[in-house]
Amino acid sequence: MQMTNDTDLIIFGAAGDLANRKLFPALYRLHCAGLLEENVRIMALARAELSTDDFVQGLLKSLRQMLDTSELDDVQWQAFSRRLHYLSMDFGEQAHYANFNQWLQSQRVAIYYLATPPSLFGSICGHLHSTGCVDDRARVVLEKPIGQDLVSSRHVNDTVGGYFDERNIYRIDHYLGKETVQNLLALRFANRVINSQWDNSCIDHVQITAAETVGIEGRWGYYDSVGQLRDMVQNHLLQLLCMVAMEPPNSLEADEIRAEKVKLLRALRPITSETVLESAIRGQYSAGWIKDQPVVGYMQEEGSQDSSSNTETFVALRAYVDNWRWAGVPFYLRTGKRMREKVTQVVIAYKDNPHTIFPGRQPTVGNKLVIRLQPNEGIQLEMVSKKQSLKEPLSLEKQVLNLDFFADASESRIADAYERLFLEVINGNQWLFVSRDEIEVSWRWCDSLLDAWQDKDVAVKPYGAGSSGPSKAEILIEKDQRSWYEG
Ligand code: BG6
Repeated sequence: MQMTNDTDLIIFGAAGDLANRKLFPALYRLHCAGLLEENVRIMALARAELSTDDFVQGLLKSLRQMLDTSELDDVQWQAFSRRLHYLSMDFGEQAHYANFNQWLQSQRVAIYYLATPPSLFGSICGHLHSTGCVDDRARVVLEKPIGQDLVSSRHVNDTVGGYFDERNIYRIDHYLGKETVQNLLALRFANRVINSQWDNSCIDHVQITAAETVGIEGRWGYYDSVGQLRDMVQNHLLQLLCMVAMEPPNSLEADEIRAEKVKLLRALRPITSETVLESAIRGQYSAGWIKDQPVVGYMQEEGSQDSSSNTETFVALRAYVDNWRWAGVPFYLRTGKRMREKVTQVVIAYKDNPHTIFPGRQPTVGNKLVIRLQPNEGIQLEMVSKKQSLKEPLSLEKQVLNLDFFADASESRIADAYERLFLEVINGNQWLFVSRDEIEVSWRWCDSLLDAWQDKDVAVKPYGAGSSGPSKAEILIEKDQRSWYEG
């Protein structure tokens, strides 16, 4: 790990939604926590003609909306704002990069954060390179999506790779920055009691759910050409699957972890035209209620231009990992917008005992390990225990062992993913970023599913906003004599 304290963070797209909602709040919090080295400078780049002062005032307004009032301390803010610089720039104009270059200082490490539409990645990197802003220490951070399929992702990677070495390219999957996702590594690889039973001899099946209550949040233009498989499964859910199912890496070095993830993704059995109808469900929300408020259906969302859109806002699927450890264990993945509640969790459902000595008294539930990523971050182990009772000599009941990360944390809140990710980029550590190979293997798998849906002309199944998704998703798992964990 390379520690450096002479770093410039350069945010392209500094006026955008991501920068306002995630990037600047994360940087401000790192600053307040004393984790941003003193001479880290932050350059905000956007098109609007503003002075640095104007930008700083605007940012303060936006932070007031994003942070708790207790977090905005005047002394801290004054110190933070002294790090900030602003330059108005048309990212497509090479001449503007020459102005920017004058601000850079050659002895410092430049980190370019591209919070822009991916269509600009190539030209921004090209201009940076041709105007002398890229040396062999400069890093570039790319937001998703990296392409919309294997071919287009290769194009993005080839283009960016023409200017930056792979060891300097940081592809964000913000799920990898979540505290609880990293905790999966600790859970699996620091606990003998867990890792000794982490395979098909003990585990019946795995469920990974990422349900959201939000809709498409005004992003029709982006979302309608993408859909939930590309927006959530190709990246976040498959990354979670990797963390759950990959083999133990030799160490925590980025290359070791990434190699294990690639191996796992390669073992994912493709869903093809022959298997798609029984393996994967697409849904789309119609009008309904979320937290007692009426919400419109997908087709009526702001910006909607296609009243017959067949874009999915929900996906449920059954996947298999064809390797020694997981042979025969189904992985059920489910994600959707406008679902009943926001929850991201992994459920490990263990097999029943081969024989019971408690006839008629066993609770019907088997052991389940529930890893809750958000909200209420924590781990619960559902166990069977004896009921305390003299009348019923050996009656059993379900009990839950509870590990609440938040209650046990010494910090007053769980850090946002972007705080962790910024620190890792500044420290030059790629372990929480996605390699080119991972991107390509996961796109290959998703492409197969997308092709199969197209080949079979699979229409989206409607589900009411505020529900648990289309009934077909229940049927998918119930056919296997299992059910979604609604704990
Ligand atoms: C983003 C998707 O990558 O992740 C959004 O583009 C989605 O559609 C978001 O809402 C979910 O992130 P989180 O951290 O709220 O689970």
